[in-house]
Amino acid sequence: MTRAISGATIVAGVAGSPVAHSLSPLIHNAWIAAAGLDAVYVPFAPPRDAFVSFARGLVGGAIRGLNVTTPFKQDALQVATRASERALRAGAANLLVFGEGAVVFADNTDGEGLLAALAARAPRFEAAAAPATILGAGGAARGAAAALKEAGAPEIRIVNRTASRATELADLIGAPARAMDAGVAAFEAVQLVVNATTLGLGGGTGPAAAFAAMRPGAVALDMVYRPLRTEFLAAAARTGLVTVDGLAMLIAQAAPSFEALFGAPPPPIDVRALCLRALGESVEDPA
Ligand SMILES: NC(=O)c1ccc[n+]([C@@H]2O[C@H](COP(=O)([O-])OP(=O)(O)OC[C@H]3O[C@@H](n4cnc5c(N)ncnc54)[C@H](OP(=O)(O)O)[C@@H]3O)[C@@H](O)[C@H]2O)c1
Repeated sequence: MTRAISGATIVAGVAGSPVAHSLSPLIHNAWIAAAGLDAVYVPFAPPRDAFVSFARGLVGGAIRGLNVTTPFKQDALQVATRASERALRAGAANLLVFGEGAVVFADNTDGEGLLAALAARAPRFEAAAAPATILGAGGAARGAAAALKEAGAPEIRIVNRTASRATELADLIGAPARAMDAGVAAFEAVQLVVNATTLGLGGGTGPAAAFAAMRPGAVALDMVYRPLRTEFLAAAARTGLVTVDGLAMLIAQAAPSFEALFGAPPPPIDVRALCLRALGESVEDPA
């Protein structure tokens, strides 16, 4: 996949802290190569307290755009001069596109990625059928909550370590979202639980969840994809839940980002297989 960098090479990337775990460069560079674009997609790790000044330094066309990951998605909106409805609804952006002059457009493709991953890997899931529980209240949880509301979820329960952030997110989303503590009640009659915390990233224990209290046939989706077989998904599978791994969502949120950055949909290559290899996974459907 080595290719020459020219004076006209378009630069885009992903900013996060940490960012070294991110598979976004692998995905986007594979699409760039398959599409024959003169472009490159690179990782950036700005200091945790300096994302806004880092991103403002890129305004004016230094690069085409940036995907934004943990913990910068809320900061990303501050840099924008325009934002999509869905980014404003979520109060968070995972994509900044630097336009002419000082224009910076913010979007949020996480919710679209979440719903697309569910449609592909849990096809019986219907957002409007029953409540959903989101674990976490950071940037990714915001995109998920906004998308589930838009898709008609009758109730969205938000559980977070810092209770005030759960309340803040529930207030932003409005009914039917509500903040709850992590007890069994947050999982009763629920058809979907989403891990939108960083717990489990790099291995180790995921967030606690009362899977057994959920509806039969309910779905657990883990946004963490490194490792792919998280403890959260393994525990959900042992309780009989349908599981959806974070890679499905990662690829589904990357596709609209690629189109916004490079002006064409990604070419139809199997980036999931590439990612599985990069994760050291040999089987197709690990979750
Ligand atoms: N697969 C995908 O497509 C995809 C897309 C987006 C995000 N993600 C992943 O989703 C995760 C969250 O991303 P983000 O952008 O929302 O990050 P973020 O804004 O930094 O939010 C982090 C969340 O994790 C919680 N948390 C962190 N450490 C915790 C701990 N020790 N115990 C309990 N909760 C803890 C935080 O709770 P507090 O509020 O209490 O700090 C907060 O809710 C990351 O792993 C990211 O890589 C994946």
